[in-house]
Amino acid sequence: MFSYRHAFHAGNHADVLKHLVLVQLLRYLAQKDTPFWVVDTHAGAGLYGLEGEWAAKRSEFADGIGRLWGRADAPPAVVDYLDEIRALNPEGRLRHYPGSPFIALRHLRERDRLRLFEMHPTESRVLAGNIGEAGREAQKRAIVDAGDGFAGLKALLPPPPRRALVLIDPSYEDKRDYARVLAALRDALSRFATGCYAIWYPLVQRPEPADLARRLRNQPGIRWLHATLSVRHPSADGLGLHGSGMFVVNPPWTLQASLRECLPWLLAALRQDDGAGFTLETDGEEPHGAGAAGPGRKPAARVRVAASGPGAGRAPRGPRRP
Ligand SMILES: C[S@@+](CC[C@H](N)C(=O)[O-])C[C@H]1O[C@@H](n2cnc3c(N)ncnc32)[C@H](O)[C@@H]1O
Repeated sequence: MFSYRHAFHAGNHADVLKHLVLVQLLRYLAQKDTPFWVVDTHAGAGLYGLEGEWAAKRSEFADGIGRLWGRADAPPAVVDYLDEIRALNPEGRLRHYPGSPFIALRHLRERDRLRLFEMHPTESRVLAGNIGEAGREAQKRAIVDAGDGFAGLKALLPPPPRRALVLIDPSYEDKRDYARVLAALRDALSRFATGCYAIWYPLVQRPEPADLARRLRNQPGIRWLHATLSVRHPSADGLGLHGSGMFVVNPPWTLQASLRECLPWLLAALRQDDGAGFTLETDGEEPHGAGAAGPGRKPAARVRVAASGPGAGRAPRGPRRP
């Protein structure tokens, strides 16, 4: 059984990027009256105490949400994200942090549904308890499954309302997760091509993350947006997370502009050394309007919208080969 427990990392810089994007995706889905589902394949415990022994042990949140908390000059997408954290800390002191299930829950309406998978027995028990304590509305809308999220996803697609966001957020403790993510996305797209898929991955000193990003970008016939945020140079011992990436398939047309506006601000707020940087790229065109082309359209030139610092990674590339 795995040793990864998200409570050590809750609210760190990687959670900031992931949850900020998640909030934008949820807000976009909730703009239309028609119901939607959220599938969270790797849900974690749902709620985290930042004053607890675990969070305090590494204080990762101090260099994540801790640096943003109390800032009054944040751009709109960061404000939307901060509103989620503030809702859980109404007295104004940063004591609790919501995981993806509780961020999603806050955006669900009467007919929307949340399907949560968490395979760690303790984490799934805690998650089920947290959902239970969140009240009848939460219990009605969310189902916790203690099984494998990759397998569970297959069984859920396509979802009945034909509108859904799927968050795929493994810990990558098991290196096979990189291949599983790719296989899960391919399978999911074959069942439900119009779904929105958000894939988180770590930036670590290994070949797998870059390889995953390259393979994701090369999926034929998909629209995508890819954002990375590094907060420092990789450590000399190769350990730890110097950044993370979010790869979104079928992104809402509003996402690129939101991230373009807020990533420079986030970089300045979260940077730890001059290795910090961000990238924001899409499959090609400036996304505009809900009518943007879906699967099957011709591949277009990839553009890197912005980058900063040596940690920002790759040079811009030419047209993608089909
Ligand atoms: C990064 S954490 C999830 C954090 C959560 N999505 C959030 O943003 O708050 C990854 C979680 O996936 C769980 N996990 C690992 N393998 C899994 C699998 N195959 N299916 C479901 N959950 C799994 C781990 O126990 C861990 O709690």
